[in-house]
Amino acid sequence: MEQWIAWFYEVLNAALQLYFRQECAVSSVYEIAVPEGNGLEEVCGRGLTFDEQAVVMLALMPHLCPQALDIFFVNNKNFDRPYTEFGGWKGMSHGGFLPTGETAAFILGGEDTGKRLEVMRMFGKEHWFWRENVLRLEGQGRGEPFLSGQLRVSEEVLSRILYRKEYKPDCTMEFPAKRVTTVLEWGDMVVDYRVALALEEINTWINGQRTIMQEWGLERFLKAGYRALFYGPPGTGKTLAATLLGKRNDMDVYRVDLSMIVSKYIGETEKNLAQVFDMAENRRWILFFDEADALFGKRTSTTTSNDRHANQEVAFLLQRIEDFPGTVILATNLKSNLDEAFLRRFQAMVYFPMPDEESRKLLWQKMLPATWLQEDRDTLLGCAVKAELSGGSIANVIRSCALQLLATHTDKLSKEMLDYALKKELAKEGNIG
Ligand SMILES: Nc1ncnc2c1ncn2[C@@H]1O[C@H](COP(=O)(O)OP(=O)(O)OP(=O)(O)O)[C@@H](O)[C@H]1O
Ligand SMILES: [Mg+2]
Repeated sequence: MEQWIAWFYEVLNAALQLYFRQECAVSSVYEIAVPEGNGLEEVCGRGLTFDEQAVVMLALMPHLCPQALDIFFVNNKNFDRPYTEFGGWKGMSHGGFLPTGETAAFILGGEDTGKRLEVMRMFGKEHWFWRENVLRLEGQGRGEPFLSGQLRVSEEVLSRILYRKEYKPDCTMEFPAKRVTTVLEWGDMVVDYRVALALEEINTWINGQRTIMQEWGLERFLKAGYRALFYGPPGTGKTLAATLLGKRNDMDVYRVDLSMIVSKYIGETEKNLAQVFDMAENRRWILFFDEADALFGKRTSTTTSNDRHANQEVAFLLQRIEDFPGTVILATNLKSNLDEAFLRRFQAMVYFPMPDEESRKLLWQKMLPATWLQEDRDTLLGCAVKAELSGGSIANVIRSCALQLLATHTDKLSKEMLDYALKKELAKEGNIG
């Protein structure tokens, strides 16, 4: 980065000297040679023009070298106030000069109105700065000039510079999504052939969407993205399947808990969710909305203002889900209440059934450590598979068995231990059902 900072200093000084008609080694900032090497290219993921490089560096300066911009604090003697043409805003805790779009226009064009318009276009929604969430102008007052917006580089770009790695945000109130991962592999999943087919189709879409939409020109007719609804009883592998789809395709999966979002009114929800969608789009994430029933049947009568807000959130979410150009998976336990209009938005509805005896056998065989079993292996397994449990419940039983083994300092599983654990788990299910 050093050479880029040095280059930016040169550009900045030249811009000021030229503006104030002082002696200057160049007659235009464009004569200043851009550094060799592709530092900025790596950070932005593509090649940049001179103007783009200057704007990215300007946005980075407060982070990398804040004093560099202090020169803009100079007062305009004629009016005894700061130079309007330098732009700039003052932060809450940062004492230095924070650039605005105006600052960028000044450095690149001075008084040149044509250049100013070019710079404005650089901050428009069509430019990749915006589309790829590199940097943006934010916080213009209502009715105030567009370029008075604060020039802000995104956290993603900062993270790429600071940590030399992709930005993986944490789940917070501002960012209501959490990355989910699994150590399991695709082959560890036990699903019936219908679920397997549906998952393969989603997988094919992820790999082939470019061919379908661009090469075959179908983007004119088909809506971008793929929306799937996973439904079925608890513990049947819905979350696991979504997570593995990501793992298999080297994509991050971010989970949004909808019950958390829709149930209570938080003024900022919509903005925060918008951020999740924006990031997901740029980063090629799979979005996984859990507890999606919070979305259904909510669009009914509104009595309190709370309901009204919840309804607005739901409407917003549905729209964003429908427009999302990537892969979205919604999961729920129940399928009731799903109205037609809602279902039409999905490319796939995948029912995750309770595993049948054969599937349960596979699950037990995969999960039970071989070292636990002795001669009565088949009796134990036979007894275990009879219990009508989901994959998630089987995992619970095995956990309980493990605890019993530890507590009794044994390393072989007895039928009593297994029976006890099974009974406990079945009782749980009974209570719910
Ligand atoms: N079909 C399956 N194949 C392999 N393991 C499974 C399967 N179903 C469940 N499991 C095991 O149970 C755990 C819990 O499953 P998961 O969280 O995917 O269930 P879910 O359907 O999302 O449940 P919920 O509706 O409660 O969210 C998994 O992490 C996995 O260890
Ligand atoms: Mg789940």
